[in-house]
Amino acid sequence: MARILTGVQSTGRPHMGNILGAIIPAIELANNPVNDSFLFIADLHSLTQIKNPKQLKENTLQVAATWLACGLNPEKTTFYRQSDVPQCTELSWYLNCFFPYQRLKLAHSFKDKSDRLEDVNSGLFAYPMLMASDILLYDADYVPVGKDQLQHLEMTRDVASRINHKYGEVFIIPEAKLQKDAQLIPGTDGEKMSKSRENTIDVFENEKSIKKIINKNIITDNSPLEASKDPNNSTVFHLYNLIVSSEKSSKMAENLKAGGYGWGHAKKELIEELVKSFASQREKFNHYINHPQEVEDVLQKGALKAKKVADATLNRIRESLGYNS
Ligand code: ADP
Ligand code: TRP
Repeated sequence: MARILTGVQSTGRPHMGNILGAIIPAIELANNPVNDSFLFIADLHSLTQIKNPKQLKENTLQVAATWLACGLNPEKTTFYRQSDVPQCTELSWYLNCFFPYQRLKLAHSFKDKSDRLEDVNSGLFAYPMLMASDILLYDADYVPVGKDQLQHLEMTRDVASRINHKYGEVFIIPEAKLQKDAQLIPGTDGEKMSKSRENTIDVFENEKSIKKIINKNIITDNSPLEASKDPNNSTVFHLYNLIVSSEKSSKMAENLKAGGYGWGHAKKELIEELVKSFASQREKFNHYINHPQEVEDVLQKGALKAKKVADATLNRIRESLGYNS
């Protein structure tokens, strides 16, 4: 059985693009019984940017509630919060001491972030070694990541190999599992949905707010009601197509092409489907947000499972380095 591990940033409430493009595919992978899955909320990484304790906590709750509402089964997946397993920060120190500074300087993510962000701290620089620690601590075989994280995986393999070379087989060398065919979900402006573009759709909102977002933010051309319209050039249709059956999708495409069917009609159908198809997740999400202790209990249970594995790995490396294990 292969161990699959992945971390998710706790950057606030996930939007429709995160849910359809990343969260649901990851849950499918995690729930597959052939995998032994570890999934955690990377709240220590968030400290590189978030220094407000209330916000840090709130972000974790929102992210954890989303994963649980979207179907993550914590009985099958070891689901935990990074900061509940302090073994991770200890290991990251060891890794830092084996990874050449000159190599860490080549990290694209640091260059990118240090150009954009105000708070450029040493934690941001050491970020790849904390990520390597997340992975090596749990003896992960595969790490599903997007393209932007591949370099971090290379650094993880590199530091693990350096240590193995010196001390024997301390670490399992993990492999990246590139998620290349993930769908790109468009935002209300037709570009990639992203927090930074302010074009997101929050599917956990109530009907009134969803209606407002769709009606106000999706711009359509002003062709008259009777004109034939091109579904392939329409964000309303693209979003609708992502959440309905192929029959419903073909029906809307036909209606648009035939004419006599306006953008208002299409938006109304999209709103109805957004409200309906995320109804169960919305209900669960709200339940978890209103019962944070339930989420806390799930994460604590996950942390206990994670710690067992973490302790065993940490003992291996402590012993190799000459510390008490
Ligand atoms: P954002 O762009 O809103 O800041 P993140 O960069 O935090 O989102 O992405 C979190 C996860 O969601 C990543 O795995 C990313 O690939 C995925 N994701 C984000 N936006 C989209 C989108 N529009 N379509 C598909 N996947 C997305
Ligand atoms: N750095 C990852 C991101 O920005 C999140 C992450 C932290 C991660 N630790 C990890 C992903 C370990 C995979 C494995 O998305």
